Amino acid sequence: MFFRRALVSLLGIGAAYASVIVARTAATVERDIGFISGNTTKLSNAVKAFPSTGGTVLQALAIHTDAVATNTAVQQTLTDSKATPSVSEADATTIIALLQALANAIVDALAATVAKKAAFRALDLQLPGTSKLVGQDLNQLYEPTALVVTAAGLTNKPRRYGSTKLLETDLLSKTPNDKKAQANAIIAQINAAFDKAIAAYSS
Ligand SMILES: *[C@@H]1O[C@H](CO)[C@@H](O)[C@H](O)[C@H]1NC(C)=O
Repeated sequence: MFFRRALVSLLGIGAAYASVIVARTAATVERDIGFISGNTTKLSNAVKAFPSTGGTVLQALAIHTDAVATNTAVQQTLTDSKATPSVSEADATTIIALLQALANAIVDALAATVAKKAAFRALDLQLPGTSKLVGQDLNQLYEPTALVVTAAGLTNKPRRYGSTKLLETDLLSKTPNDKKAQANAIIAQINAAFDKAIAAYSS
């Protein structure tokens, strides 16, 4: 009985909360992109600070934590972008400038990650599979789905975390027509850097 009442009141809170999360604004998305940038820079600095020889598993796990935080920021941006009905020309100009800066930070972070491949690989001697985590983090940041083994065989499942590709698609859908070419050019830069880094860690 108590459990049932507790559940009913929880559902009530859920409904009230749901009605609060309605429309977001471009300003929220702009703030969120700033969060992705901040997290990307933090991640990038940690990767660059990882020593070429003698790095520890603990340092690598701290980098993994930064990657997960970056992913959370991507997820939040995606949620807020989806809840933003439309974007004005002025906001689109601001968002594109933020995205270009973010793309530069992402390209830089991914290049640093590729450059540190041997250093991460060396960790596998201390803890087998550590360097696989780097490839997995890259993949989770980028791809909306993962191939997972289920009872039915290999299935494409949506990921728990945010995905750069999903965010790109959503932002592009809200970009005014006269700015789509610019947006596409930025997306191409980001995707090329991800493709290259993921390829580097898949061999
Ligand atoms: C990372 O993103 C979160 C939001 O997901 C934000 O609160 C935090 O300030 C960001 N961190 C940095 C270093 O920018």
